[in-house]
Parts: sequence; C-alpha cells; structure tokens
Amino acid sequence: MRLLVVGSGGREHALAWKIARSPEVSKLYAAPGNPGIARVAECAPIKAEALDDLTAFAARERIDLAVVGPELPLTLGLADRLADRGVAVFGPSRAAAELEGSKVFAKELMAKYGVPTARFAVFAEAVEARAYVRTLGAPLVVKADGLAGGKGALVCRSLAEADEAIRAMLEGKVFGRAGERVVIEECLEGEEVSFFALTDGEQALPLAFAQDHKPVFDGDQGPNTGGMGAYSPVPTLGERLADELLETVVTPTLRAMAAEGRPYRGLLYVGLMLTRDGPRVLEFNCRFGDPETQPLMLRLDGDLVPLLAAVARGEGLPPRLHWRPEAAVTVVLASGGYPGEYATGKPIAGLEAAEELPGVVIFHAGTALREGRLVTAGGRVLGVSALGADLEAAVETAYEAASRISFEGMHYRRDIGQRALRRPPGR
Ligand code: AMP
Ligand code: GLY
Repeated sequence: MRLLVVGSGGREHALAWKIARSPEVSKLYAAPGNPGIARVAECAPIKAEALDDLTAFAARERIDLAVVGPELPLTLGLADRLADRGVAVFGPSRAAAELEGSKVFAKELMAKYGVPTARFAVFAEAVEARAYVRTLGAPLVVKADGLAGGKGALVCRSLAEADEAIRAMLEGKVFGRAGERVVIEECLEGEEVSFFALTDGEQALPLAFAQDHKPVFDGDQGPNTGGMGAYSPVPTLGERLADELLETVVTPTLRAMAAEGRPYRGLLYVGLMLTRDGPRVLEFNCRFGDPETQPLMLRLDGDLVPLLAAVARGEGLPPRLHWRPEAAVTVVLASGGYPGEYATGKPIAGLEAAEELPGVVIFHAGTALREGRLVTAGGRVLGVSALGADLEAAVETAYEAASRISFEGMHYRRDIGQRALRRPPGR
C-alpha cells in the first residue's frame, strides 16, 4: 500500500513511525513532514492546508490511503477532496469535522440527542450574552465557536472576567470569525480526561487511555498549551469507564451524526469532565490528540495500517485492540517563551546521545534542518518518549533522555506522570 501522512507535528511523527513498521506499506510519504518524519517517510513540501496541491499529489503518486493528522485541513474538507479523487482517507468529512470546527454545532447536536454536556446557551450579541452570564453566575466558561488554536475556551471565575471574555470575542473580535458566536456554559467540576475511539461511523473501538498535561508549568500552573506531555496507561481509568463512555457518549454521538447525514469516520477525541453526576462532554476533536498519540503509538501492539484502512474504507473494525503491558510517557521540550512568543532557529544538541537509551524514541514536532543542522522551528520542539516496565521506569528513562538534549531557551515540565505515580490504582 502507498500511504500519505498529512501534517508536521509530533502526532504525525508518531503515526508515521508506527505506520512505517507495517509490512503492508510499500511507500510512505508525508506532507509536509519534518526532519524526524523524514527518517521514516519521504517528505513532500506541501502544507497541510494546501488542499489543491495535496489532492493533486495524492492522485499523481497513486496514494491508497491518506492519514490526516491536524484538524484544520479536515474542517476545510481535505477528506472530501481526496475521496473525490478515489483516495481512501482516514479522517472525517468536512460535514463530520464540524464536531470540532464549530462548538455551537457540537453543543446543539448534544442537546438535541441527549449526549451529556454542560448546560449552555449560544450568543452573537454581547448585550444578551452579558444578561445570560448574570442568570448563570460565576464560575462559568466562555468559548469561541470556531477553531482558535486551543485558546478559545476561557474559564471565568467572576462576572467581570466573563464580561471581558465576551467583550474580547464578540466586540474585540480577537478570534476573528471563529469568535462571531460564543457558547457560554456552566463550569463543571471533576477530573478531566480524554477518550479516543476509532470509528467507521457505526462501530467504535476505544483506544487505551492517555493523560495530557495542558498547563505549561509543573503542578498545572501557568497558561494552557497544546500539551506538555502525556502518559499511558492511566492507572485510575480502566475498561469499566471505557465501556460507560462508549455507551453514554460515543455511540449516541455516532448515531446522532449519522441521523444528521454526517456519518463520522476516523478518530473521535472526546474531552470529558468526570463529574459527581457522571461524565459530561467538554469538547469533541476530529483527530488524534497531540501529544497523547505519542505514548499510545509506543504501546499499540500489532499493525496500525489495516485498522486505519478498515476505518477509511468502512470495512468494519476488529473486536479489540492490543496494547503492550508496559507504560509509555512523552515529555515535550518547548521553546523559551512558549506558549507565548518564542524564537526559532536555535541549534539542537544531544539527540543521538538521548536516543541511545534503551526504550527511548524521540518524536519531532517543531524542528527544521538549516544548512544540515537541526534547529528549533516551533513552540513544541521535541517529544522525548520512553517505554518502560512501568510508569515509574518510563518516566525515569524519558527524563534521563531529556537531560541529554539542549537548545537555547529549552524548557519542559518535570512532573509528567507524577499524578499517576502518587495515586493508588482505583477505578
Ligand atoms: P475546550 O476547548 O472546550 O476543551 O476547553 C478547553 C479547556 O477548558 C478544557 O480542557 C477544560 O479544562 C476547560 N473547560 C472547558 N469547558 C469547561 C466546563 N464546562 N467546565 C470546566 N472547565 C471547562
Ligand atoms: N492534547 C490536546 C489535543 O490534542 O487537543
């Protein structure tokens, strides 16, 4: 099979790394890829949003299966465009990707079909939004409707903060068209978890749990990022919870999407709050998590390619996935200043020494080659990943590897996985 991975981050490196190990693959391309991905795939310099060029490339190279990593090309309709040219695609259609592309769509769908989520209302007018927050009371959450690079949801501790969020989005247009409408919802309390399911539109197959770390600093301090690290498995989250989430959230959502004429195929990412009253959906994403995919790919046992192909072609899923019993962790090394402004082009040293450690795999996210030297090219630069006999061992190895790598301004969290290590196994 001839495959194309679309995207250039750590998630796409992890997917390409796993795909490249499949005996089914005769040729693997990535667009645009990155220097890490270039070790396992041939990179074509086409941006993930360049729909015309990607479609022409896939047709010319007789791609059998395209695997789309990021949400933006999916919400722009890349899957539809490729399918029109006869290319099987792992990733939802434009109509189905609305589940991530529009929070208003997702919330209204959940309300219509009884999928559990926070109480909410939708506003385009600031005056009405301000009146509503006064009926709801603080704390509450104000969310931009469209894609906002992970910055579109503001948890407001006071009415003054809510007024400011409403002003910024509806009047200040800080998110442009993505903030023309806002969802305002009640603030939920509980443990936040992510749940991933592969689906062909009817059946759903859960992936193992992986826990992300969104805030930039240790102890969950500081502003939110795309994710500073992840680990799998999560000792407190097991098969019972997976079954409950399939039954109460995933299956009703897939039925709802089918009933709306938007069958959902690909990876469904459900962000949830486990409240005292049961699980509640915070958001849907229409693609794999980044960095959660990195530890998951280290743990997935068996061939990923037949699974992706079966989903893409609607051919039915196997009854279950197999996971290695070991634990895996990814520690993200970030540029100085990230998630705010940061410089790029800083030379990276020590990768080879880090990769010598047994069990270590380093996934590239924001890297580039300049005159033959590896340099930084993004906020999240590398995902130092390790597989270990247990989480403690994986964490120790990953941090040993991270300590061998350096670039100017580099920073990373020192507590990835600590929450699980401190807590006895439960549910
Ligand atoms: P979202 O993009 O909708 O997932 O929101 C980003 C983050 O905001 C989530 O990961 C949660 O930490 C937080 N959040 C979103 N909605 C709520 C809510 N209703 N209650 C509490 N926290 C929330
Ligand atoms: N790690 C969070 C996300 O992929 O959205």
